[in-house]
Amino acid sequence: MTMDAIRQRFLMCRPTYFAVDYAINPWMDPTAPVDADLAIRQWEQLRQVYRDLGHTVEEIAPVPGLPDMVFAANGGTVIDGKAMAVQFRDPQRADEAPAYRAWFESAGFELYDPKHVNEGEGDILLVGDVLLAGTGFRTAHASHAQLQEVFGYPVITMQLVDPRFYHLDTALTVLDERTVAYLPEAFSPGSQAALRRLFPDGVHATMADAEVLGLNAVSDGRHVVLPAQATDLAAKLRDRGYETIGVDLSELRKAGGGPKCCTLRLRQGKASK
Ligand code: ARG
Repeated sequence: MTMDAIRQRFLMCRPTYFAVDYAINPWMDPTAPVDADLAIRQWEQLRQVYRDLGHTVEEIAPVPGLPDMVFAANGGTVIDGKAMAVQFRDPQRADEAPAYRAWFESAGFELYDPKHVNEGEGDILLVGDVLLAGTGFRTAHASHAQLQEVFGYPVITMQLVDPRFYHLDTALTVLDERTVAYLPEAFSPGSQAALRRLFPDGVHATMADAEVLGLNAVSDGRHVVLPAQATDLAAKLRDRGYETIGVDLSELRKAGGGPKCCTLRLRQGKASK
């Protein structure tokens, strides 16, 4: 089987001011030590992996006092040259939204402002011509209707039920235009049924994979960059013909983030979708 990799354009934010100063998800323990220098080295390795795969990495300047700004996936949703800005649930992250918004504006994207809580590609994932939109913890259900109006892709609501998998991208990975990998038990029964209908050959991850944030992965359709600790998931993906690349983001995981959280896909237009 030959699988074609699609060259991607990503936005990332160096974790210069990364810390775990507050707890807005169950992974975060402000009393546990974090090695800030190691966090930067691990993030640089992730950026190098993308460059080695031929992807383009753009960077937004980190802002002091915004320790979670490294999680660029939460900065917006960018499809067909349109950028939907974000509105965070938690006040600790609120000031990231205008910083990312300004970046999209200067990069020439057509801007849209959210009317409800919307945490960007953390909860909103394009699979082929369908937008999967998470809700339950962060992104408000009401924002899903706005996403469909702005982008014109059918939006399918995914109800998240486990607080450890608070963003859709912690429970589901888009592998290519046709299929996904996911942790079934992170979703409500109705959402699980919908996932089975949409993706009958979807890869089911184990709890052990999900607990190392293995599903917080980035695929270009051929290579899947995922946490090195997610060994079962990596083996399943290799069986399906994907090439897996393990990365260690142990320090960022202390904030509840992995490779995908650090990576916002910039989709310029239809041709480079
Ligand atoms: N500490 C961050 C938060 O709780 C982590 C965000 C992870 N990002 C993601 N796309 N899942 O908001």
